[in-house]
Amino acid sequence: MKKQLIAGNWKMNGSLVTNEALVNALAAGVGSAQCQIAVCVPSPYLAQVRGLVSGTGIDVGAQDVSVHESGAYTGEVSAGMLRDFGVRYCLVGHSERRQYHGETDAVVADKAQRALAAGVTPIVCVGETLAERETGRTEEVVKRQLAAVVHTNGHCISEIVVAYEPVWAIGTGKTASPEEAQQVHAVLRAQLRAATPKADRVLILYGGSMNAANAAQLLSQPDIDGGLVGGASLKPADFLSIIAAAH
Ligand code: PGA
Repeated sequence: MKKQLIAGNWKMNGSLVTNEALVNALAAGVGSAQCQIAVCVPSPYLAQVRGLVSGTGIDVGAQDVSVHESGAYTGEVSAGMLRDFGVRYCLVGHSERRQYHGETDAVVADKAQRALAAGVTPIVCVGETLAERETGRTEEVVKRQLAAVVHTNGHCISEIVVAYEPVWAIGTGKTASPEEAQQVHAVLRAQLRAATPKADRVLILYGGSMNAANAAQLLSQPDIDGGLVGGASLKPADFLSIIAAAH
């Protein structure tokens, strides 16, 4: 059976000192974990965290990647550079990138392609806003977002990780109920099945205020294969509880 993945998204948080304390606390507590674990950290800390997680079974992820391969793109970080630092995963199309940096479905799809080409697994984030949910457009929105990635990546689509993150649940303390989340995950699974015979291998994570109290129920849904965890991933005890709830 495939192992679930619990990925922390540190967002723009951390320092050399706090990262070390956080990762050491995680390393001390993950001994009996049944699932895969990753932490997606700010780019300047990739080297530090790679060193800290060495031998712990925790993988390192980045939070974004350039849509370009190399060249005159000041400030950008390429997929090849991430690979150079032993990065296993890269978030792509997080709603904060879509919202604050104008990332379109096409850009997100191209970023996923760059990551895959460099041997980095993209964690492609999709999710509806509150207004979209309230007007009954959830399915339409997540299907459109995933369709762009399927279209651009063809048969490689089975190599991605998907994260369903309802925008209204991110950082708000409001979580989709396990049933609400499962419903959307099932839609995404069906869409993947139409695209690849290996759809059942694709991990579909839930993200949005996942915490120690709600993780077990969310992670027991048939199409929820892990979690993308923001706020709670900065608190070692909380993150470890989520990891313990995964299999
Ligand atoms: P949250 O963030 O767990 O703090 O809601 C999740 C995310 O944005 O990936």
